[in-house]
Amino acid sequence: MTAPILRRLADLRALTTKWRSNGEVIGVVPTMGALHQGHLSLAAAAKAYCDRVIVTIFVNPKQFNNPEDLANYPRTEHDDAEKLAPYGVDAIYVPEPGEIYPDGFSTTVMVTGLTDTMEGPFRPGHFEGVATVVAKLFLQTQADRAYFGEKDYQQLLVVRRMARDLDIPTEVIGCPTVREPSGLAMSSRNQRLSPTGLEIAARKHAIMQRLADRLTAGEPFAPLADGARADLTEAGFSEVEYIELRCADTLQALPGADRPARLFVAAWAGGIRLIDNIPVEPA
Ligand code: PAF
Repeated sequence: MTAPILRRLADLRALTTKWRSNGEVIGVVPTMGALHQGHLSLAAAAKAYCDRVIVTIFVNPKQFNNPEDLANYPRTEHDDAEKLAPYGVDAIYVPEPGEIYPDGFSTTVMVTGLTDTMEGPFRPGHFEGVATVVAKLFLQTQADRAYFGEKDYQQLLVVRRMARDLDIPTEVIGCPTVREPSGLAMSSRNQRLSPTGLEIAARKHAIMQRLADRLTAGEPFAPLADGARADLTEAGFSEVEYIELRCADTLQALPGADRPARLFVAAWAGGIRLIDNIPVEPA
């Protein structure tokens, strides 16, 4: 059975207030729709722990710095509700835009530091848009726990810091990236890849994993990054925006894998910008 779709905050509040008064643990999975197996794994993780699960679907205009990207973002609410049906979620919150950004809305949540690198400079305003909407969704859903994919690892850390700094009592849980058999990280953007673009994109994970293995073997990062950049170009990526080795907790840049780290790549395949990251075990 598909979960009820709620579009008004007042209707959501009526439910969450009842659940909270029963002492039930509420989990939320914030999404922008176009659900794939990665999102569904978050719903499953939430359901395994929480008494009640809300999946939110809101294509947040404030986090798109490219209007074309916003216009082309897939909107598939009906399919999304059907995909969620087997997971037993309790509500799907698809707020009207005015429920999130009422007339005169003039507040922005900005997390500094963690947002200065990688996606931050390439997508001006993106993390402010994410932090603002996620703060609203945490407060609107009154969730005890929120589930995010490690695919957007920088976003995961930003959202966790935001909740901590603002004393929002929602625990932010990171869940492993779900991958295609080729290793390609599942993403709503993959739907926009042509068959050739998909073939190119599928080569990225193996290149990243080779690099990660050599880091774990103790090699320094800089020459390996140059090699991986060349490998990505040879694989067909038209532009490699960054390859970074960062501390898994602080995102501080690392010269080698001297502590638990993540390897991050942003690159374009077939006209689509793709990001990914993988854990790197310390050498
Ligand atoms: O990762 C996403 O889909 C979005 O950035 C999020 C967290 C739902 C906020 O709009």
